[in-house]
Amino acid sequence: MSKTYRIACIPGDGIGPEVTRQARKALDVAANRFGFSLDWQDYPFGAAHYLRTGEIFPESALEEMGGCDALLLGAIGDPRVKPGELERGILLTLRFRFDQYVNLRPALSFPRVPLPVPLPEGRRLDAVVVRENTEDLYMGLGGRAEGGSLSFSVEARRAPYELKGELALWTTPPCPLAAQVAVSTRPGVERIARYACELAVRRGENRVTLVTKANAVPHLYGFFEDETARVAAQYPGLKLEKENVDACCYHLVRRPDAFGVLLCPNLFGDIVSDLLAGLSGGMGMAAGGNIGDGLSMFEPVHGSAPDIAGTGRANPLAAILSGELLLRHLGEHEAADVVGGAVTAYLEESDPEGLPFELGGTSPVERSGDEVASHIAG
Ligand code: NAD
Ligand code: IPM
Ligand code: MN
Repeated sequence: MSKTYRIACIPGDGIGPEVTRQARKALDVAANRFGFSLDWQDYPFGAAHYLRTGEIFPESALEEMGGCDALLLGAIGDPRVKPGELERGILLTLRFRFDQYVNLRPALSFPRVPLPVPLPEGRRLDAVVVRENTEDLYMGLGGRAEGGSLSFSVEARRAPYELKGELALWTTPPCPLAAQVAVSTRPGVERIARYACELAVRRGENRVTLVTKANAVPHLYGFFEDETARVAAQYPGLKLEKENVDACCYHLVRRPDAFGVLLCPNLFGDIVSDLLAGLSGGMGMAAGGNIGDGLSMFEPVHGSAPDIAGTGRANPLAAILSGELLLRHLGEHEAADVVGGAVTAYLEESDPEGLPFELGGTSPVERSGDEVASHIAG
């Protein structure tokens, strides 16, 4: 009997449903070719569902998803809803609840995709952001006050620990203020540093670049550096190169091909991954995975792109390549290779008009998805 995987799917907002449809099509064709099947569990969460029902993300759905083999997500966020409401309520809830501590974001050059920074002859972009995905400024701990006196409770649960506390801050004279707490812990840094080192070894590389900012934020990022250095010391073949995030952005723009594994705390990883998406040829080329010991979630780096939603101009390749990462996570490496190869074949063989708008062509999202699917079918 053929193997069946249960895959949860949240298409989400804006271009999310458009690109997710293409990724699903690609994965179904790949599954069919390699003799397994995907049992899709659809979830409607996102702006339309919220505006219609008032519901963001019920606990029952989270529990159900926990029983799935993986999750494919399009994008969350809509201009009709207060910024952060859905992003935190759905996307970050998933990352935290399932303790998806690795945000893996490869940045590659692809055939015939022009790079904004031309590389020296024979060089290609092959970097990967390993973003810590459960701590830092993202934990949602904080508040704001009009009256000059702010107090808030700190409460967060991650697989390795529970964090609790109270914080009180005030100004004299009283002025409206806001504060948000960034936290980094030894288990939190250790596990992501280990993942980055193991990945560098698997890639046959001899270094990891640690992207921090300990010169200005010494407590938080000094700690991140020290904890990472302890882990990296256990890998004698690896050199830990430290770069401040500002200088790292500068170097990335000038020589994007000079980087391999970039280990980043959560916020810097978010920023550096969009920079790398731009450097690799476009937001629609950048795939990602949120990986943990429980349910892992695969989603493109980009958001819901409300500026092009519904126009057919979305590039589905990032979502399809996120599907490739999903297949790898399931252990379906042959199918994953074929999905990746089909994206390359499509880029190589299409006439220029047949490429997505982002790459200078005029192919609507659906047609690009069909092209990739037909390459997968073989
Ligand atoms: P965005 O990534 O949605 O868009 C940035 C730019 O890239 C836009 O010009 C957009 O048109 C373009 N773009 C993005 N994806 C593309 C694709 N596949 N093909 C062609 N062009 C593409 O970032 P934003 O505008 O800052 O955010 C829009 C909304 O998405 C916000 O609500 C934001 O919070 C949310 N968001 C969600 C996620 C996620 O769900 N993972 C990620 C980022 C942003
Ligand atoms: C991303 C997004 C999210 C993040 C937002 C929407 C919360 O930008 O997945 O990169 O900051 O992680
Ligand atoms: Mn982002």
